[in-house]
Amino acid sequence: MEESRALGKEPATFHDKVRAMVGTYASSSAPDMPPRAPVPAPPQQQADVEVPLGTEDAMTLQFPTPEVRVPETPSTEIGPTGRPMPFLPEPRPVATHGNARVISMCNQKGGVGKTTTTINLGAALAEYGRKVLLVDFDPQGSLSVGLGLNPHDMDMTVYNLLMDPETTLDEVVVPSGVPGMDLLPSNIDLSAAEVQLVHEVAREQTLQRVLAPAIAEYDVILIDCQPSLGLLTVNALTASHGVIVPLECEYFALRGVALLKATIDKVKQRLNPGLEVDGVLGTMFDGRTLHGREVLERLVQAWGDKVFHTVIRRTVKFSDSTVAGEPITSYASGSSGAEAYRQLAKEVAVRCLDV
Ligand SMILES: Nc1ncnc2c1ncn2[C@@H]1O[C@H](COP(=O)(O)OP(=O)(O)OP(=O)(O)O)[C@@H](O)[C@H]1O
Ligand SMILES: [Mg+2]
Repeated sequence: MEESRALGKEPATFHDKVRAMVGTYASSSAPDMPPRAPVPAPPQQQADVEVPLGTEDAMTLQFPTPEVRVPETPSTEIGPTGRPMPFLPEPRPVATHGNARVISMCNQKGGVGKTTTTINLGAALAEYGRKVLLVDFDPQGSLSVGLGLNPHDMDMTVYNLLMDPETTLDEVVVPSGVPGMDLLPSNIDLSAAEVQLVHEVAREQTLQRVLAPAIAEYDVILIDCQPSLGLLTVNALTASHGVIVPLECEYFALRGVALLKATIDKVKQRLNPGLEVDGVLGTMFDGRTLHGREVLERLVQAWGDKVFHTVIRRTVKFSDSTVAGEPITSYASGSSGAEAYRQLAKEVAVRCLDV
C-alpha cells in the first residue's frame, strides 16, 4: 500500500480517498458557499474519526430563504444540527379532519430512510390525532410490506387507481393497523404504470387527480417515493404541497442532491408552483463520529432552517420493526427511535400543518 502511494497511484484508504476528493473540490470555485460558521459539538458526543468534508452539491445548493414557523425560544440546549433546539409543542387535537397537506418523501438515492420516515412520521402524527393516509408509490412495495401486507395478496393497488378510471379511492384504501392511519398499497404492478403513463394525456398529473378526493378526508397524506427521479416521482411531486428530503448522515449521501433540487425546481416551475421543500431530514446519524456531525453542519450551511432540528439516529430497532410489520412507535414505543419520530411529527406540525 505504501508503495502505491509513493508511486502516486490510487489513495490507499477510505479517508485518503475522501481527502483526495476534498482537495479537488477545494480547488474549484464555489461562489455560493456560505461562510463556515463554527458548529459546537453536543457535549455528550465524542469524536473518533476526523474526516474533512467538502462537496460541490452541498456548497452550490441554496434553497430559497426559508420561511419556517419554528418558534423562537431562549433555549440554550444545542441540538445535533449545532443549532439551539426550539421548543416544539404537542400538536393540538383537531375537531374535524380534512384539507390535507400532501407531502412526498423524496430522494433518488436508495436506502436513505424514505420508507422508514413515511411509516413512522405517519404513525406519530396519527398518535397526535391527525388522520393520515400513506401512499406507497414505489413498485418495491416496501411501505406496504413494512406495514405487514403481503405483496402477492393485494386485490387492488395504486396501479389500479392510476390506470383504471372506474376504480375509486375507497376500493383501494386499506387500514394500516395503526388507528387513524390508512394506506394505499403498491406492489410490482406499479412499475408497469410508469411505462403506460408515458402515453397518457397530462401524465404528470395522474396521481394528483386520483388523490384529490382524499384531501377533504385526511389531515396529512404522505407519499413514499421510489429511489429515482422518473415519471412516478414527478407525479408524486406534482401531487404534493411539500417535499421532505431524508438524507443519510454520511459523506456520499450529499452527492446527487443537486439533481434532486433541480428536479424539484423544474416541477415547481412547470407543473406545481405551490411546491415547497418542507424540510431536509438527517437520518441514520451516529453522534459519536465527527463525520456525521460535519455532514449535518454542511447541510445547515447549505439549506439553513430547511434542515429539521430533529435528527434520526442509527438504531437496529428500525430494521426489527420492519420485520415485525409495524411502526417503531408501536413496536418499541418507548425507544429513542420512536421518540425521534414523535419529535419530527411535532416539528412538521409546527412548520407546515395547522397546530
Ligand atoms: N435510523 C435508522 N437506523 C438504522 N437503520 C435504519 C434507519 N432508518 C432506516 N433504516 C434501515 O435502513 C434500510 C433502508 O431504509 P428505508 O427502506 O427506509 O430507505 P428508503 O430510502 O425507503 O430505501 P429505498 O430507496 O430502497 O426505497 C431499512 O432496512 C431500514 O430498516
Ligand atoms: Mg423506500
